[in-house]
Amino acid sequence: MAESAKTPPQDPTLYDAVVIGGGPGGYVCAIRLGQAGKRTLVIERAKLGGVCLNVGCIPSKALIHASKVYKKAKDGAAMGIIAADLRVDFATMVGWKDAISGKLSGGIAHLLKGNKVEVMVGSAKLAGKGRIAVTLADGSVQTVQAKDIVLATGSSPIEIPGFAFDGKGILDSTAALSLSAIPATMAVIGGGVIGLELGDVYARLGCKVTVIEAAERILPFFDADVVRPVEQKQKKLGIQHLTSHKAEGSAYTADGKVNLQLRDGKGQPVELTVDKVLVAVGRRPNSRDLGLETVGLKANARGFIDVDAQLRTQVAGIYAIGDVVGNPMLAHKASKEGEVAAEVIAGVPGAAMDVACIPNVVYTDPEIATVGPTLQELQASGKAIKIGKFGFGALGRAMTANAGEGFARIITDQTGLILAVQVVGPEASELIAQAGLAVEMAATAEDLALTVHAHPTLAEAMLEAALAATGHPLHQLN
Ligand code: NAI
Repeated sequence: MAESAKTPPQDPTLYDAVVIGGGPGGYVCAIRLGQAGKRTLVIERAKLGGVCLNVGCIPSKALIHASKVYKKAKDGAAMGIIAADLRVDFATMVGWKDAISGKLSGGIAHLLKGNKVEVMVGSAKLAGKGRIAVTLADGSVQTVQAKDIVLATGSSPIEIPGFAFDGKGILDSTAALSLSAIPATMAVIGGGVIGLELGDVYARLGCKVTVIEAAERILPFFDADVVRPVEQKQKKLGIQHLTSHKAEGSAYTADGKVNLQLRDGKGQPVELTVDKVLVAVGRRPNSRDLGLETVGLKANARGFIDVDAQLRTQVAGIYAIGDVVGNPMLAHKASKEGEVAAEVIAGVPGAAMDVACIPNVVYTDPEIATVGPTLQELQASGKAIKIGKFGFGALGRAMTANAGEGFARIITDQTGLILAVQVVGPEASELIAQAGLAVEMAATAEDLALTVHAHPTLAEAMLEAALAATGHPLHQLN
């Protein structure tokens, strides 16, 4: 009798690996596991692609782009563009955005299938060692088993007292991405990444936006001079920044608006009435209701699941990646962790999370993009540094794009090794890629300065900043 005939049929509920969560961490991990020949299942309760692709990065960038096209057309007179009867069909704009997410989510399903990864739609919970209970749409529960489990459950918007999300007047970022009409007035609580990106969108579309930020300035986690061009442009757009203000409560008015009770930096009460309120004060990890206790796993005091450089939790056979393990809550960090976790599970020798930097981008106007510590942090560390800076205002390509705000800054140690790069300006999100490569390859400012950059390009700002950091500026005086 042939050997294979003696092998009992494989239990269909038993997988080599189960990934809980199909966002940019989970689906990337699953693709890599599939490629490694592991029988893999992804369990996702909503749509493949997670927050990033369906209600986060991608849809917000679509609305950012569309609102910029509108604004540029409106402001084109100086370039000889006169747009008569220019208007926004918001329903079409939102539909266009949704179609992009739909297409990308379908693409992920295709990639998973092509890598022999199975997908189950349902809500997963750990149910003891190697077991996962999945509640399906019809309410039934199915149990699957896995040798290795990857938790990639992401994060959710934080709610604050007095501002319970109701999808009507008080919105989280998901609801703010799918409004049925452009509100006349909007308050944004939290002058962070989401608040400023979406505040920009609605202000460009004609909404009067007020940002309420508890800290002394917006985007408090970036250097003040990097944020300044954004601050100035938002003000020009009509956005009001109420910094050092706390949002304490809200109530609906008789005509369906929201009245906000705020307190300013001096402790004085301030009131504001708007059509919509977007609350964007950060995100919390989705580690609750995951059945962690059934395997003896505990989230830390802030709700994150602690992992080591191999993305291993304290419990053997259980890994965690992405927002649920901690900051920065960025899709590209999650994807990298997903790849590493898959390599560890597949037994790749030396697999570990070992990256020199994770770029950070804010899609405001102008955009902000950084790698490495802030200038303030480096100065506070007492390390001897050199700084090279170049303003987009002096760059030909930036002028031809009518986008002269901001600068690129390269910070090195005394030997010229690049420690950090900060860009605020046009296409900063794209320009930061060469900075990331430079840091990853331990390049010096001289390496960057010796690299011939195409002319005319925005990337020449990086070249000029590198030249300045070496002490040999070209298109600016020393
Ligand atoms: P955030 O952490 O960027 O900003 C929250 C802001 O709210 C902070 O400035 C904070 O000082 C302020 N704040 C906190 N409590 C407040 C209160 N009660 N009243 C007024 N202000 C208050 O958080 P955000 O914007 O919600 O984004 C969450 C995460 O999502 C980000 O940390 C980021 O990791 C991710 N994200 C990334 C994007 C990107 O990479 N471009 C885009 C959007 C989100």
